[in-house]
Order: sequence, then structure tokens, then C-alpha cells
Amino acid sequence: MPRPATIFSCSACGRQSPKWHGQCPGCGDWNTLVEERAPAARTGGARGPDRAGPPPRPVPLRDVAVERVPRLSTGIGELDRVLGGGLVPGSLVLLGGSPGIGKSTLTNMALGHLAGAGRPTLYVSGEESAAQIRLRAERLGAAALEVPVLAETDLDTVLGVLRAEQPAACVIDSVQTLSSAALDSAPGTVAQVREVASRIADVAKRSGTAVLLVGHVTKEGALAGPRVLEHLVDCVLQFEGERERTYRTLRALKNRFGSTNDVGVFEMREQGLAEVLDASARFVGEATRAPGSVVLAAMEGSRPLLVEVQALVSPSELVPPRRVCTGLDRNRLALVLAVLGRHAGVGVGAADVFVNVVGGVRIDEPGADLAVALAVASAARGVATEPAPLGCYGEIGLTGELRSVGHPERREEEAAKFGLRTIVSPATAPTLREAVRAAVGGRERTARAA
Ligand SMILES: Nc1ncnc2c1ncn2[C@@H]1O[C@H](COP(=O)(O)OP(=O)(O)OP(=O)(O)O)[C@@H](O)[C@H]1O
Ligand SMILES: [Mg+2]
Repeated sequence: MPRPATIFSCSACGRQSPKWHGQCPGCGDWNTLVEERAPAARTGGARGPDRAGPPPRPVPLRDVAVERVPRLSTGIGELDRVLGGGLVPGSLVLLGGSPGIGKSTLTNMALGHLAGAGRPTLYVSGEESAAQIRLRAERLGAAALEVPVLAETDLDTVLGVLRAEQPAACVIDSVQTLSSAALDSAPGTVAQVREVASRIADVAKRSGTAVLLVGHVTKEGALAGPRVLEHLVDCVLQFEGERERTYRTLRALKNRFGSTNDVGVFEMREQGLAEVLDASARFVGEATRAPGSVVLAAMEGSRPLLVEVQALVSPSELVPPRRVCTGLDRNRLALVLAVLGRHAGVGVGAADVFVNVVGGVRIDEPGADLAVALAVASAARGVATEPAPLGCYGEIGLTGELRSVGHPERREEEAAKFGLRTIVSPATAPTLREAVRAAVGGRERTARAA
């Protein structure tokens, strides 16, 4: 039977099928199958089923030879930490982030430091011209201008340069813009992205080049392109923050060579991204101490971070009233407001509620519940917490209880280090009602303040 000319690939799970289906038979997602040309049949491949000679013998792990290659330091401490101690030669790192967040800036700076340390580097850009990249590099300093640049979108040309130059570190900005002429599909499609990543990985493994692939992120925040790309690479980093704000966080979603617990904090400045080593001190120092403000002792992976959470409760004519939050999960806000009203006597009824994590930081952990609740309680009653700023952390249960969260001692240590004398937590208040009383007092204090 002749081989079909096309196959269909799922953009979510990578499953291939000879026929088109509305629903992927692999993962069940709808409308994710896209057409690709089938790869040409192998002719007489050395690894075919009828390979001559005895089959290879599996080797016990202790007898496997390992070459210990030192990691490459990118010169950016926060990036090295998130990577687990620097770039691993021959590895593939995918760096995702929304448009304008600073992906090109970060990777250009990393290559600049490596070039400054005498390492051969290469910056491949399919998005910007060499002149545009130079303009950015001028902002980033002299070392960034040392990086050799190639503005190219053809995969084979890029692979040829990689083989010839054998850089220690290479950036591909972005994986969605490169394409192979051997495939019919457009750049950025499942087939192309997979082809680009796997062929670059192949060359990089051979030459020991550490490759940073820059990837786009969809509106929903997921990495654009097939999920298979995330399986293919050794490490997936996510660069987050709000473009209009200065703070950015970098976290590992997957790391074959280190933990996924570490988070790096950066600030976008005129001269590029600066590491923020004293993030807690800054956020506590900037906390307003006004009604509606508390300090959350959060855990960003294995690192404690103090951030200010602010709330505003304002009468509204809108039905339903607005519930807006930035840097937090919206569903979690709805839950906290419901428990506050039902179990802690702080109903916000028909008022608009706005909650914001200051500095553009995103907090994705249950320990943030109590900070949201206390900020809203303080805003609703119009009284500042006592003392101000007040530190807190804890998860809120549906029956109004406070539930313990991970690393209480590290959170408390961080809070004490930056002068927060009183911490409200599940250890000091078993219920949300008691936590609210401890933070903003009973109704008597509210009445006095009014
Ligand atoms: N002169 C400047 N001073 C301060 N910040 C700047 C300056 N110029 C650019 N920026 C910041 O750099 C960001 C762009 O950085 P960069 O090009 O690295 O982002 P990117 O993630 O690569 O974007 P894209 O997805 O478009 O490739 C801008 O959004 C802006 O915040
Ligand atoms: Mg860019």
C-alpha cells in the first residue's frame, strides 16, 4: 500500500494520526490536529528491524562512563540559581515569556557575560535584524556588544553555522521563527518547532553547546507550540511579570539538572535587567501602612519573599459588583470573599473589590489567602492593621479555619529579618475570625475609627 502523503499531528500532545479527527484520539482535546507532510520512508537504515549482528547489551548504571563537565556560569546570579548552578554544556533550555517581558534582554546579557569571560557564543535571531539587536546591546554595556550575531530564519543555515563555530553557548531567538525547508508547514507550526528543536539538540549534544531557545507564550500564559517541545528540552524557564511594571520573576517549570523550586527576581532598567537580591526589603520598605495594606510572607519556591498585598473596597452601582485582582488567582479571591462574609463577619456585599500584589509580582500559593482576607477586611472597615505593616500567611479553609502551609519557620525568619514584629498565621489564630480580630480589631475599633 502506498504511504499516505500527509499525517496529522496534535498540537497539544504530539500524537500522530493518518486521518484528521475533530477530537484528538490521544489527549481528547478538540481542533488540535494539524496537517503535516509525512516524513520520507527510511531506506536501508542501519537501525532497521533486520539489523545484522547481535543486539546491544544493556550496561549497569554503575559501569556507565560519565564525563563530568563543569557548568557555564552566565554571570547572572539569579539565572544561574534558577538553572540549578549555571548552563549545562550540550543541554537545551527553553525560555518562555510574554511579548516584551525581556527574554531577548536576558539572553543577550547572559551571552555578553560569557563572551566577556572568553567563551565563544552565538546569538541567532529570527525576529530582529542585526542592527536592532545591536541597539539593545548598546543599552546593556560593552560585553553584550562582543556577542556574534546571526539574523537568520533558515534552520539548515543555522545548523551549518553552529557546526562550524561550535560556540559554548548559543541563543535561538525564537524557536518559532526558524523553519526547515524540508517541511512544507509554516514557521511556528507543530512540525516545524519540533524539527527545529530536535535538530538543534542533536548538533548541540555533539558539540557540547548549551542552547537557550526563546519561546513565545500564548494569551493564556502557556508556552506556544507543541507540548512535545517541553518534553524535548532539558529545562523550561518561565519569565513572568507585567510589562508596565519593573519587577520580573524567573522560575523553572522543569529542570533535569536541578530543582524547580528556585525563583529569580529582576528589575527592568535602562541598562537592562538588574538582579533584585533584596526584594523583601524593598517591598516591606515601600509598604504603605494605610488601611487595606498587609505584607504577605510568601514562599516563591524554596525562597521566602515578603510582598505587599493591597485591597480597595468601594461602593458600587454595578450588578454584579467588580472583583478584580492582579498577581493572584481570581477564583481564590472569590473563595476568600465568601469565607470572609460567611465566617468572619466581613461582608463586602455589593461593593467593588480590587486586590493587588504590589510590584507586578505573581503569587501562586495557598499561603496568600490570609493576606487577601486581611487586606480586604482592613479596607472594608477603613482601619489600618495594627501594627502596620502587618505580616501574615496561611491558607483559608471553607469552614473558616486557617490551615497551615509549607515552611512556616522560613517565612517567620524572613519577616523577622525585615522588622515585621507581629505575624498573623495559622499558628497564632486558628480561625479567620480570630485572625481578622488580631489584625484590625473587633467592630468596636472600627466604630472608633469611623
Ligand atoms: N531604554 C529602556 N529603558 C528601560 N527599559 C527598556 C528600554 N528599552 C526597552 N526596555 C524594556 O525592555 C523590554 C523589551 O525587552 P525585550 O526585547 O528583551 O523583550 P522580549 O521578551 O524579547 O520581547 P519580544 O517578545 O517582543 O521578543 C520592553 O518591554 C521594556 O520594558
Ligand atoms: Mg525578543
